Amino acid sequence: EEEKADYKARIKELLKARNATLVAHYYTDPEIQALAEETNGCVADSLEMARFGRDVEADTLIVAGVRFMGETAKILSPNKTVLMPTLEATCSLDIGCPADEFSEFCDQHPDRTVVVYANTSAAVKARADWVVTSSIALEIVEHLDSQGKKILWGPDRHLGNYIQKQTGADMLMWQGACIVHDEFKAKALGQLKQMNPDAAVLVHPESPSTVVDMADAVGSTSQLIKAAQTMDNKRFIVATDKGIFYKMQQLAPEKEFIEAPTGGNGATCRSCAHCPWMAMNGLQAIEQSLVDNSGHEIFVDDELRDKALVSLNRMLDFSA
Ligand code: 13P
Ligand code: SF4
Repeated sequence: EEEKADYKARIKELLKARNATLVAHYYTDPEIQALAEETNGCVADSLEMARFGRDVEADTLIVAGVRFMGETAKILSPNKTVLMPTLEATCSLDIGCPADEFSEFCDQHPDRTVVVYANTSAAVKARADWVVTSSIALEIVEHLDSQGKKILWGPDRHLGNYIQKQTGADMLMWQGACIVHDEFKAKALGQLKQMNPDAAVLVHPESPSTVVDMADAVGSTSQLIKAAQTMDNKRFIVATDKGIFYKMQQLAPEKEFIEAPTGGNGATCRSCAHCPWMAMNGLQAIEQSLVDNSGHEIFVDDELRDKALVSLNRMLDFSA
């Protein structure tokens, strides 16, 4: 604890000295979210992280999250230095959607509007017509569907299926998944629900459809936090990364939050409701990135940037 306090104090000095701002996702460890709060940074979902990073007056952004969030920040703020605690923090959706293969898939369906989830590389965003995050995906697909557009969707198949069901849009799916949410199990959740009949079930739509079908509220991280605050229930079963409990507990201190079951009865799972890449963001790594950019700085190729900016701006303008 004392060591943590030392790290925090040094990071605060470095942030000031470099006119740097910390931008953190709800899935990062509580101490990082707290540090972002204490230093006028932001803790947010992926849409709000993008917007905040673009609009904040700072020379440097430290993006505590995963790679695509750092890339998005750099695309939107080419004149800011964008650092990440570690450049190794990737995402299974990004890994499962290589730009060349995805581009070929798009080429085979030239009649479709390409809509990609923000959890992708800059190159995949550059190939897309629209970028969406889970906060805004439903509205954007609804909008495209109302214009009679057929959609090619990637990479998260669970989010895609959820949106397809809600909107009835014509969507052809890339078959990617998030290794964290893919582990939530409907059968075990049903048992937990039976034992806690008063608890409302909150589910992130990257979860399998059998789990989504059991939800009382489905939404992005920020929408789930809002649901925890506004729903009358006193207890909630939460199917998303457990990093989110920090903010839920902070904003609804009188309520109780229970982890949704992963991988059956405590059996082995690859991620156990905490993203291994989000977990790479530590205080030591944040300090290092501020001491020396090298090995921490995000760069995006100019040509890719120009193209990815178009699809990203469509989302940001739509949601403005
Ligand atoms: P949101 O915060 O936009 O809901 O995204 C969740 C996520 O998967 C980030 O990795
Ligand atoms: Fe990717 Fe899932 Fe981790 Fe989010 S939680 S970064 S979607 S692997």
